[in-house]
Amino acid sequence: MEKIKDLVKAALEAQKMAYVPYSGFKVGAALLTKDGQVYTGCNVESASYTPTICAERTAIVKAVSEGVHEFEAIAVVGDSEWTFPCGVCRQMLREFGKEMTIYVVKSEDEYKEFNLKDLLPHSFGPEDLIMDGEKA
Ligand code: THU
Repeated sequence: MEKIKDLVKAALEAQKMAYVPYSGFKVGAALLTKDGQVYTGCNVESASYTPTICAERTAIVKAVSEGVHEFEAIAVVGDSEWTFPCGVCRQMLREFGKEMTIYVVKSEDEYKEFNLKDLLPHSFGPEDLIMDGEKA
């Protein structure tokens, strides 16, 4: 599908922007919204280490800060042969829905497709919280 090819290319482009003076490990992500927009992200590291943000969460934060909460898919590429989203990023993706396609990208023509449900089974999410006596 052309839409997916473009998403993969956007992740590869975003990877070039990675700010990684400590790990040297570049990651790029491209998040496809339900209405067809794409938000990209790269990992951004910090000299004090813990503030480091992953590429996936950079993309999520960019989208959410512009009022977009509905996502269809994310493409992720890193410096290992197949870089999967870390646990923290899987949880953050799950915040916005259980159903999302995750493309783990090796190159423009090589990528694998997964579902968030399979990468984060039995997940905890907003629906599990009781707020004001009612489920969120
Ligand atoms: N990293 C990501 O950007 N996404 C992931 O899902 C895995 C890890 C980044 C964080 C850090 O900058 C570098 O990769 C090494 O862990």
